[in-house]
Amino acid sequence: MGRKKITIVGAGNVGATAAHWAAEKELGDIVLVDIVEGMPQGKALDLMESRPVEGFDVNITGANDYGETSDSDLVIITSGLPRKPGMSRDDLLQKNKEIVSSVTKSVVAQSPNCIIIVVSNPLDTMSYVAKAVSGFPKNRVVGMAGILDSARFRLFIAMELNVSVEDIQALVLGGHGDSMVPLPRYSTVGGIPLTQILTEDKINNIVGRTRKAGGEIVALLKTGSAYYSPSASAVQMADAILKDKKRILPCCAYLEGEYGLDGIYFGVPVKLGSDGVEQVMEVSLTEEESALVQQSGKAVKESIASLKL
Ligand code: NAI
Ligand code: 2OP
Repeated sequence: MGRKKITIVGAGNVGATAAHWAAEKELGDIVLVDIVEGMPQGKALDLMESRPVEGFDVNITGANDYGETSDSDLVIITSGLPRKPGMSRDDLLQKNKEIVSSVTKSVVAQSPNCIIIVVSNPLDTMSYVAKAVSGFPKNRVVGMAGILDSARFRLFIAMELNVSVEDIQALVLGGHGDSMVPLPRYSTVGGIPLTQILTEDKINNIVGRTRKAGGEIVALLKTGSAYYSPSASAVQMADAILKDKKRILPCCAYLEGEYGLDGIYFGVPVKLGSDGVEQVMEVSLTEEESALVQQSGKAVKESIASLKL
């Protein structure tokens, strides 16, 4: 059996950094695709030239078309416009819809059996677009947001308590936007429920910062949005899928009745393995949590409904 093959579409900040993490982990050979001439080829060659120093044995190539992507096992779609200051994720909707549609068509023509991880924003809606355009079953199209949103939640908890990030588990459900639903009741520090360790006020502050964490980075960077943590999160999903790890991770999955939501992509805990989304996990929610999830579901539903597919 040869190496796995990963295509990353969009060789910008998220795509190129994802290539970097994936190469370091030797997840497979990587093809970076972008419309900018020379740029994916240049970044691929630069990464290749780091191989003797870092000692990883995978090939990375760059391309402006899809010939080299044929028979990829996994495709990560990061192409699109990033958020600029003052721009909501939904402002990106129409432009990125066109980009994600055309990219998905090209990807599927070359790799009809691949699993697609969508990163482009607005995430829940773009995941829906990729599924609709690909015609793939729901398990083979999954979006990245929950791992990132939960990582931010975990980091802020670790910073508040001055403890290792390794010992913190945290769960964020819902759409990847201001309506996301961090769940303190399902978050633990070394197995101890967060609600026993921090006051309600402190938890509320951390939840608020988590919801706005993407915007906090945009305001600092001024010319784009976060990419180290988003790309690391996408590569964690790639790792789980390519190695059939069956990890339980919060991802953006197609729902058919789970959480009372139907026909939308939404952030929920899933089992990720070689078949992609192998199971959607349902957790019990209080009335208050449930209301927040329904509110977030409504926001995602409206965004999807505004698409003219
Ligand atoms: P970027 O601007 O650095 O890179 C995007 C790349 O896509 C550019 O190199 C551009 O040339 C390329 N591109 C545009 N149209 C294309 C097409 N038709 N085919 C191939 N490539 C094309 O942006 P960045 O920071 O890498 O972000 C990428 C996307 O990911 C944005 O939509 C951003 O909002 C989203 N994002 C989503 C996150 C999430 O949690 N789901 C987190 C961070 C970013
Ligand atoms: C983020 O959460 C912009 O969606 C991107 O950083």
